[in-house]
Amino acid sequence: MLQLLQKPAPILEERGPDWFAPARPRPHDKRLPPLDLILAAKRNLISLWHVNDYRPTHGDMRLFGRQVFLANSPETVKYVMATRHDNYERKSPQMRRALENLLGDGLFISDGETWRRRRPLVSDIVHKNRVPAFGLTMEAVTLSFVERWRARPAGEPFNALTEMAELTAEIISRAVFGNELGARAAHDVVDAFTRYQGLIDNFNIGYFLGANEGLPVFRGPRLRRSVAQLDRVIDKVVTDHLEGRGEHDSMLDLLVKRQQKSPDLGLDVSALRNEAATIFMAGHETTAGVLTWAWYLISNAPWVEEAVLAELDRVCGSRTPTVDDVAQLDWCRSVIEETLRLYPPVPILARQAKDADTIAGIDIDPAALVVVVPWLLHRSEGLWDQPERFRPERFLTDRPTPYTYIPFAIGPRICAGLAFGLTEAILCFAILIQQFRIRVLPGTKVEPVSRLTLRPAGGLPVTAERRV
Ligand code: HEM
Repeated sequence: MLQLLQKPAPILEERGPDWFAPARPRPHDKRLPPLDLILAAKRNLISLWHVNDYRPTHGDMRLFGRQVFLANSPETVKYVMATRHDNYERKSPQMRRALENLLGDGLFISDGETWRRRRPLVSDIVHKNRVPAFGLTMEAVTLSFVERWRARPAGEPFNALTEMAELTAEIISRAVFGNELGARAAHDVVDAFTRYQGLIDNFNIGYFLGANEGLPVFRGPRLRRSVAQLDRVIDKVVTDHLEGRGEHDSMLDLLVKRQQKSPDLGLDVSALRNEAATIFMAGHETTAGVLTWAWYLISNAPWVEEAVLAELDRVCGSRTPTVDDVAQLDWCRSVIEETLRLYPPVPILARQAKDADTIAGIDIDPAALVVVVPWLLHRSEGLWDQPERFRPERFLTDRPTPYTYIPFAIGPRICAGLAFGLTEAILCFAILIQQFRIRVLPGTKVEPVSRLTLRPAGGLPVTAERRV
């Protein structure tokens, strides 16, 4: 059995002349025993599911005595994420422990009073009303990537995942820290995050063995070095802002001004550092993921690409798309929304129950793990027509049934940067596809893998051919 799990789950990818069912791990037709489940989860959080989990369902099981409840129907998702948010607002010990060295008490992993005080502040500075102003940064950075790609020898392959990660890191870094400081900080911050994530485990065995708060991640020298690198960069930018050398209207500048206006907010240096790191982390990998998956999907569906190009021609003619065009780019938006359905960058939302409760007739223990899995819900038979197929047109006119489509989560903890992330993904996609015909390198085996976020294992090798 253990032998079997050393190998990646077989990947299914199917196509017809005008349809495409993109890569996914083959669902299991037998439930995995607990130890195999844990080993499979450590390697890939989307490869452990049974064929019946791809239907609206709910249920519980025990892993070493710890109760795990799967909320996998619109009703149970609504109950956990919205109706009883008070009981399920807390992130899982795995998530909190994995990120606490990096984000401190930052919004993404905080709860209780800290979360309630900070959420309105962070939501406000990344609010949709501010997106048009940040849109200019999105345009400028994407155009610098257009220049970079144009300078590349024709047909030379590159890794779309690392390019998209650099693109979105520079955008969010400039938005958070300011244009000049941000451009310089981006590389060091990404490097520290990447090294940190490579070192931590997404599975906290102590929690399953009875420690309700999980066990702290081992802080070896390499982990400490990556945290120190992040601290160095962010602390410097925070100090610059506090001493008046920051850039006007960066997100950090907005936070510092809020604090200066209302000192009782309690945003000290460490809170500013933690929220800056949180926005950076939450806002860069997710958007990079959706853009990378969009290139994979478009590359395999030229009939969709034609519709996108016709729309860009109609709305923008030969000029470059801008943030003001986004509201009219329905095909581009639908491609991004369908990509978020098929490859939600955060494929599992895990919560820890505060008190005992009953969900759909099942008694829930205090401190139980409660999981909502966008990966399953978005591919559920009965909730979607042809769920495995890439069909962006499903988003052109209809909105999904509530609590069936949750790439940004749902309820009070919904992604604070939803408008920012969606606009950014649509705009970057529109600018790049207008200029380049992007194709996955022939022979590439694409394997979706998730430890924290969902990405193609080993990246996505592509070529980008200039259109004009
Ligand atoms: C396509 C892009 C994005 C996707 C798919 C996405 C998805 C998500 C999801 C699923 C969560 C909730 C995670 C959980 O409950 O465990 C979340 C939280 C969050 N996201 Fe995003 N995100 C995106 C972009 C962004 C951007 C651009 C920003 C900032 C500018 C951002 C800031 C945040 C913050 C601060 C939280 C924590 C909210 C809270 O706990 O109250 N996200 N995001």
